[in-house]
Amino acid sequence: ARDELVARIEGLVRLVPDYPSPGILFRDITPLLADGPAFAAVVEAIASSVDGPVDLVAGMEARGFLLAAPVALALGAGLVPVRKAGKLPGPTASESYALEYGEATVELHPFTVPEGARVLVIDDVLATGGTAAATVALFEHCKAHVVGLSFLVELDALRGRDRLAGHRVETLLHIA
Ligand code: PRP
Repeated sequence: ARDELVARIEGLVRLVPDYPSPGILFRDITPLLADGPAFAAVVEAIASSVDGPVDLVAGMEARGFLLAAPVALALGAGLVPVRKAGKLPGPTASESYALEYGEATVELHPFTVPEGARVLVIDDVLATGGTAAATVALFEHCKAHVVGLSFLVELDALRGRDRLAGHRVETLLHIA
């Protein structure tokens, strides 16, 4: 059943060459989101990928939000949006990480994350792992426990998983 779901996901993730910049092969998940039964199956698969209780589901801006919100509802957990710099009114906790050129910053509202909260982190794509590793650091700063990270797609060659060592990382579709 899982293999069938993975094949279905593969068919519904559109490959867009040279977007958003030359040399990048973009994975467009909009056809998957637009397929009601497939979207529901993905949410169900992610929600069941973690064992043990979850208090909060974190979604990374922007496509992570689309998966994290329904997973939070499915688990009866709360939702924490992890946003790009300057989008939250604050007070915020911030974590910056290096990009190929320059740097990026992610932020959350620490007053929404109780100490000891069990957090499931979700995003559409795990690429270099910079975003996910910075998100883990944000929750550690709040003294919360990241009990797992779940991705729809993982670009294995970029080895983002190595930056999440010690954490349970689940991915539906692996791309070599
Ligand atoms: C993409 C993707 C992940 C991140 C993965 O987001 O949705 O959040 O990049 O890359 P990394 O593993 O190398 O950090 P993007 O920055 O395109 O943001 P968006 O969803 O707001 O367009």
